[in-house]
Amino acid sequence: MFKNNGKKTAISIASTACLCLLLVVVAVQHHRFQVDGIIGTGTPLLNAPDAAQEDTGSAQVKKGFSAYFTKLTRGRREVEKPTRSSESTDDPPPAEDINPDDIFIAVKTTKKFHQSRLNLLLDTWISRNMRQTYIFTDGEDEELKKKIGSHAINTNCSAAHSRQALSCKMAVEYDKFIESGKKWFCHVDDDNYVNVRTLVKHLSQYPHTQDMYIGKPSLDRPIEATERLGDNKMKPVNFWFATGGAGFCVSRGLALKMSPWASGGHFMNTAEKIRLPDDCTIGYIIESVLGVPLTRSNLFHSHLENLQQVSRSEIYKQITLSYGMFENKSNIINLKGAFPVEEDPSRFKSVHCLLYPDTPWCPPQVAF
Ligand SMILES: *[C@@H]1O[C@H](CO)[C@@H](O)[C@H](O)[C@H]1NC(C)=O
Ligand SMILES: *[C@@H]1O[C@H](CO)[C@@H](O)[C@H](O)[C@H]1NC(C)=O
Repeated sequence: MFKNNGKKTAISIASTACLCLLLVVVAVQHHRFQVDGIIGTGTPLLNAPDAAQEDTGSAQVKKGFSAYFTKLTRGRREVEKPTRSSESTDDPPPAEDINPDDIFIAVKTTKKFHQSRLNLLLDTWISRNMRQTYIFTDGEDEELKKKIGSHAINTNCSAAHSRQALSCKMAVEYDKFIESGKKWFCHVDDDNYVNVRTLVKHLSQYPHTQDMYIGKPSLDRPIEATERLGDNKMKPVNFWFATGGAGFCVSRGLALKMSPWASGGHFMNTAEKIRLPDDCTIGYIIESVLGVPLTRSNLFHSHLENLQQVSRSEIYKQITLSYGMFENKSNIINLKGAFPVEEDPSRFKSVHCLLYPDTPWCPPQVAF
């Protein structure tokens, strides 16, 4: 399934985000034991949280984690070098005048997190962007429907954190986007803050009719996977993918071309063919099948990177932010804002007050 050319790395996070990266790392860890079992047996590759649990409890986990982090950061720096100039402060003139209504923002969640994660988003960035935000979940929730109406979409997918369940949700997101007629599809997780103003500004650099796939790769090299061609034939494939946990966007022009592999039931079939999770499958269809390269942006952030490294003075320029836990310590952006960490552990409320100081629940403006 995966070729092992990385170091052994242990990881233990239970989250809906970045499953793809998690699988890669876990697969590297378990490489020797898994490979034979995975291919051709019909067994799902791995279920991330369960797989991660196997690795918890040892001191090695912690060490591995730090090393993993360092590697990730170093890798990303390498990866980002060529793009730096294109993202400098002087933005090119817009290629297309778009507004927030031209963007379809899909938030992937699960019923278990409606209270703990989604409410925070609904109170912050989503409150300003109800019309372009759609929540893809796996259970009925009357409270949620009251807040966002028909934009709360029960995918009827399984609530399990399995590869199949995640691909099932992505398939529904894709179909709903196509149906919406909007110009850009953006996918985020339920632990992402989206700065829609910068998102609009960023996307307006490109015509939506052009083939565009924008996001942040989570690995420092293309993923190596195996495509199953039928007749038990295998073909190795290499491609970059944007990590779902940081959010990514696809232009309508490109999304339409993805249709034979992504619409209706096809997305699930494609995911089965390469046996990778949702965000990797998107990368596979775009890079490997359609030959369209990922456009890298370091303005997208997942909880699998060290969020302390987001420059404090540039927080308002980022497109997505995230939060999470590492080694029992919270991994959050460094922002001295409207609320102390105890009241705002994710920092999203403080970010929101920084971006929209006129929000009624934000304390009166003080100099931070
Ligand atoms: C989920 O099931 C309900 C009830 O059968 C149906 O109304 C709804 O359209 C389904 N959702 C999707 C995304 O197919
Ligand atoms: C993290 O916290 C939990 C609960 O407080 C504790 O049981 C566990 O040992 C801690 N783990 C580490 C790696 O510090």
